[in-house]
Amino acid sequence: MDMKGRSIVSIRDFTHEEIASIVAKALEVKAGKWPQAMRGKVLATLFFEPSTRTRLSFEAAMVSMGGQVIGFADPNVSSAKKGESLADTIRTVTGYVDVIAMRHPLEGAARLASQVASVPVINAGDGANQHPTQTCLDLVTIHEEFGRLDGLTVGMLGDLKHGRTVHSLAQALSHFRSRLVLISPPSLRMPDHLKLELEAAGCAFEEVPTLESVPCKLDVLYVTRIQKERFADFQEYERVACAYRLNRETLAGACSQARIMHPLPRVDEIAEELDGTPNAIYFRQAHNGIPTRQALLGLVTGAIR
Ligand code: NCD
Repeated sequence: MDMKGRSIVSIRDFTHEEIASIVAKALEVKAGKWPQAMRGKVLATLFFEPSTRTRLSFEAAMVSMGGQVIGFADPNVSSAKKGESLADTIRTVTGYVDVIAMRHPLEGAARLASQVASVPVINAGDGANQHPTQTCLDLVTIHEEFGRLDGLTVGMLGDLKHGRTVHSLAQALSHFRSRLVLISPPSLRMPDHLKLELEAAGCAFEEVPTLESVPCKLDVLYVTRIQKERFADFQEYERVACAYRLNRETLAGACSQARIMHPLPRVDEIAEELDGTPNAIYFRQAHNGIPTRQALLGLVTGAIR
């Protein structure tokens, strides 16, 4: 598989075969192949939005493979604060490093960065748009659980309007004959353009308003928090805050056997009483951020093939 020099901006840019190969590569890395593959290479992590897992797992991935990291986790300490354009920041940083991982509040920022950079840019989240590396680690986790990606029934619960993780994941799963059950309050439904894409890809999906109305047994229940920071109108946020909560009682019926996933952070949508149950795999999922990002960093820099 040759991904050397390629940016990872949107999961849409990847074919079924490429996504399957990335997952296989991450599992290879997790099994211990490719130690120290990033020796002599430098990653820049440019985070214009808050992050815990994504930034730290990118950095841990790089360091544990012998590479080094520079960057910032707060745009207020970068020249963005002085009015520098994103394009100029990228034109500069591209000369310092071998690969850039960037998170930005604006949709399309990662695409722009990839067009002006001379090194690969990895999108670590651009607004409500895409989060392709999260999707890769989600798929790695699903593969570990089920031994396959094909033909699973996946419920997505929560803020499907603003959640970039579910946007990327739904697009990826449309390559794998998945059946999707989109569970959200009416005002937080998945945007029409994404549903049209799912239809065009031949992906079976249905929309329901609550967990109780899920019509079929789920293999996976992928939960997301309400993306408070993406609401223009705070009152609108307050109307949907606490609209759903998974606990022993609500994890019944169609969901009772489902593996529960969550990109994290959780706010109040999964009760801690579920953490110790066999259903809950969200912390294992978060830990798969390391081998997955190791594989992606290695692939785009040509250190792993
Ligand atoms: C997600 C994100 O930033 O989109 N977090 C993550 O990267 N694991 C989900 C979220 O913030 O709700």
